[in-house]
Amino acid sequence: MTEAEIGTNLSAARELLIAGELVAIPTETVYGLAGNAFDVEALAKIFEVKERPYFDPLIVHIHSIEAVPMCASSFPEWAEKLAQRFWPGPLTLVLPKNDNVPDLATAGLPTVGVRVPNHALTLELLRSLAFPLAAPSANPFGYVSPTTPQHVAAQLSHRIEYILDGGPCTVGIESTIVGEREGKPSIFRLGGLSLEEIREVIGEIEVVNSGNIIAPGMMDSHYAPRIPMILGEPEEAQRNFGALRFMEPLPEIDLSHQLILSPSGDLHEAAANLFRSMRQLEAMKGLDAIYGELVPDVGIGRAINDRLKRASVPRKISA
Ligand code: TXA
Ligand code: MG
Repeated sequence: MTEAEIGTNLSAARELLIAGELVAIPTETVYGLAGNAFDVEALAKIFEVKERPYFDPLIVHIHSIEAVPMCASSFPEWAEKLAQRFWPGPLTLVLPKNDNVPDLATAGLPTVGVRVPNHALTLELLRSLAFPLAAPSANPFGYVSPTTPQHVAAQLSHRIEYILDGGPCTVGIESTIVGEREGKPSIFRLGGLSLEEIREVIGEIEVVNSGNIIAPGMMDSHYAPRIPMILGEPEEAQRNFGALRFMEPLPEIDLSHQLILSPSGDLHEAAANLFRSMRQLEAMKGLDAIYGELVPDVGIGRAINDRLKRASVPRKISA
């Protein structure tokens, strides 16, 4: 396949999707690799292009809360409350699936992850289609998610035809996933919507974490960049090391090898810069490793720390 075109031509994107092809789409969180959620062949292409294992279910994107019945057989009260409050936005709800949704999309699970992304271009695209769009993050499996069209092109350019350009992602970290576990709403993955914001709407809720792969975003080593990351600080000067810092650089490391997520200490800005910064550090020649720094563990900071911790463990699953 030739190189993917990057552009803002909605009708070109629409035609490709109707023809069963894949298109990379912008969202406020990260770019998605989209295909017709009701078309098994399009779904199979998503797994193939991403080299994604079939046990990892996809997120289905819809244009509004009214479209939930297209994919879900019921809409529990807690989920409806969250949807009313936070959609469009960085929230995925895991709901009982209906028969429109092929088993391939959900990896055989009886539930489906659904979300309304907060991006004008993609919402317009979704409204123009008669089907929802299944879209995992548009990166090869196991790698950090793309937050610009150029990130998508850098890795998937010869595997897809079109990348819809919606600019850099404003949130920059994947959606928060909420589903039901033992009859109670639980957070399966921390992301762009904070634990605190969710608690304000539905009260106490637990983050169910690793050990039990409900969402493979929970797998260790899922967001790993291609260069080792060490959480902490060196004891002496280190020449071939880089650093990914929250507000201030480290004295032990060459300034040109350091990136700051948010000089003013704004966690939202830090999230928006996270994946891009990981890619930038990785592209610097000759670095042996990166020192990473955890951010304050509140709000979206929890999701940033979650990604930093995953990026820093040895990879167990190769991309
Ligand atoms: O922000 C996002 O969520 C982005 C954009 C493109 O919307 N998408 C994204 O997709 O991060 P992906 O495939 O990289 O991660 C989707 C996660 C996976 O870990 C998947 O297992 C989980 O959602 N998921 C999907 N359906 C699920 C289900 N029925 N039960 C539990 N987890 C589910
Ligand atoms: Mg992903």
